[in-house]
Amino acid sequence: MPISPTLDSAPRRLFVTTALPYANGSFHVGHIMEYIQADIWVRFQRMRGHEVHFVCADDAHGAPIMLKAEAEGITPQQLVARIAAERPKYLEGFHISFDNWHSTDSPENVELSQDIYRKLKAAGLIYSRPVEQFYDPVKGMFLADRYIKGECPICGARDQYGDACEVCSSVYQPTDLKNPYSTLSGAAPVLKTSDHFFFKLSDPRCTAFLREWIGDRLQSQVANKAREWLDGEGEKALGDWDISRDAPYFGIPIPDAPGKYFYVWLDAPVGYLASFRNYCAKKGIDFDAFLADPRSEQIHFIGKDIIYFHTLFWPAMLKFAGYKVPDNVYVHGFITVSGEKMSKSRGTGISPLRYLDIGMNPEWLRYYIAAKLNANVEDVDFNPDDFVARVNSDLVGKYVNIASRCAGFIAKRFNGRLLGHQEGSAIIAEMQDAAGSIRGLFEAREFAKALREIMLLADKANVFVDLKKPWEVAKTGQPADLHRTCTDALQMFRLLTIFLKPVLPMLAASVEKFLNIGPLAWADAGALLPAEHRINAYSHLMTRVDPRLLDALFESDKEAPQVNTKETSSTPHPATPAKSGVPVAHAAAEGHLTISIDDFAKIDLRIARIVRAEYVDGADKLLRLTLDLGALGARQVFAGIKSAYDPASLEGRLTVVVANLAPRKMRFGLSEGMVLAASLEPGSAKGGDAPGLYLLVPDSGAQPGMRVK
Ligand code: 2FM
Ligand code: ZN
Repeated sequence: MPISPTLDSAPRRLFVTTALPYANGSFHVGHIMEYIQADIWVRFQRMRGHEVHFVCADDAHGAPIMLKAEAEGITPQQLVARIAAERPKYLEGFHISFDNWHSTDSPENVELSQDIYRKLKAAGLIYSRPVEQFYDPVKGMFLADRYIKGECPICGARDQYGDACEVCSSVYQPTDLKNPYSTLSGAAPVLKTSDHFFFKLSDPRCTAFLREWIGDRLQSQVANKAREWLDGEGEKALGDWDISRDAPYFGIPIPDAPGKYFYVWLDAPVGYLASFRNYCAKKGIDFDAFLADPRSEQIHFIGKDIIYFHTLFWPAMLKFAGYKVPDNVYVHGFITVSGEKMSKSRGTGISPLRYLDIGMNPEWLRYYIAAKLNANVEDVDFNPDDFVARVNSDLVGKYVNIASRCAGFIAKRFNGRLLGHQEGSAIIAEMQDAAGSIRGLFEAREFAKALREIMLLADKANVFVDLKKPWEVAKTGQPADLHRTCTDALQMFRLLTIFLKPVLPMLAASVEKFLNIGPLAWADAGALLPAEHRINAYSHLMTRVDPRLLDALFESDKEAPQVNTKETSSTPHPATPAKSGVPVAHAAAEGHLTISIDDFAKIDLRIARIVRAEYVDGADKLLRLTLDLGALGARQVFAGIKSAYDPASLEGRLTVVVANLAPRKMRFGLSEGMVLAASLEPGSAKGGDAPGLYLLVPDSGAQPGMRVK
């Protein structure tokens, strides 16, 4: 007899979050992957009958949002509101079932953050001390680590941020950088002192608590990492956490400390609670009682880049402020596209919006991501061919195929009615038995394994149909045999639908309609459709992926690379042909290629100051330029002007740069724009390579960051 997969544990009370995305950019596929992972888990828990509250919010504060708003001439609140308005398109598009979406720039967050701070202070875990920090004399503000770049003090890698080296992973202070520069103005930062507030993470109470909290609750890779930080010695010893920032800053004011704000990473995780509190108020749930209930569980889904904040600061802050501590932090890896890493901020690769706009089924992506996710901190690769193969062979070829081969006979020959269940269908019993192990896999976030098991069952159902050949029985066999086969196949199909429902909620809803049943819960796998149950007409449930859709999905990327794809990509190279083989300049001059004013307006031309110009090891034509684009920050650009300019002669000069060109990864580093230079056309007497390259120079008075129109 199949075991009953009904609730075998006490009802759980779950408060689940995903990391709060920064409110200065649209979602990229990395966000969507995290939301899909958490959503599958949440939907599974809901199907199990547990109480789940699934919330998120925009991470609104911090210098980047303040500076971006400033550059756009709007308030940070306006910027955040604009980004927030985009969110539903994506969330609804991919069927992410958040119960609430809020913002860290909210009254709830101010109150909670300040309350937590006051309690930490009362516990003796906050202190202040003067900090000598880099200050941008041009911009008039202290510089967050990310606005200072320089050479890594450990390995010497260039253009590393002020907090950590991307090359050797060392963590250090911005003041340790060699040859620092402000990425906001390009100016050399000066050291200035101001009082900062610190959270005493190194306090023995904190470290003892964290060791105990880590226990064996975290994924082993995550626990190891957290313990390594806790146990660090000497230079790697666990430091206290600087939680304050000086005005100007877009953030939450620190009580009794005029001009001081919480560092965004203090109030960001508090935003989990703020969103939940906001939701509780709307739903009449008692927020304090929920958190005080020992049965309540607090689970955070996050990416591997923010483990530090979530396994050290966040639990310690909560603990010593007298709040509930997280029950777990589920960490996933990054998504790569055909093996290529994507940048967190730019999210190159797959555009989730384009995916939806070209009519790709969101459940294809949900299925594909689930089929690749496990409970380890491993990257997930999106491979277009694999995507097409998996969706078509598993979802359409195996799962949907079962219904499409049998439903019509039930409708046409048996008035839509099923037979009663007859003991003896080994496959049905096996499927019901499997509910327990599949449940365990979903619970443990071993989605790939769960789907493998489900697809093995679907294979068996298909073998069953293949052997019974209902299409032949329909012609020459006994109607009772046909009725039995098709009834059994649909019972199998229903069970598979239960198992797939966390991943494919919309498809499951269509199946529920077709089978004429209410919303399927996990426990429903313990029973079957009764005799005489009447199903509705079948209409096709899912189409196959047309591989051309994948071409269309990546087409937007094809537009991104500059005309120039060689080493000299950052400066217009006269000899580079357009795709048609017609050199761009010729085509334009002959009127083959005109653009509208709207096309031109898409190009963001800016004045830039060349802060630094250097030779690039191993490059024949390139100079590495560090440009100051005023409010747009600093950029690194590789320009093919080595033959025409001595680097030292360029430093301090102004020029014009295409600021919104898609960044291009080159052998030597990332090129983040293109400087404009005049040159002769190919074919003319002096054409071809330089000499004959002339950088554009603006009239005097122009300032870095000004738009060129
Ligand atoms: O890394 C990020 O994208 C942050 N905005 C995540 C914040 S998670 C939480 F702490 F709010
Ligand atoms: Zn380094």
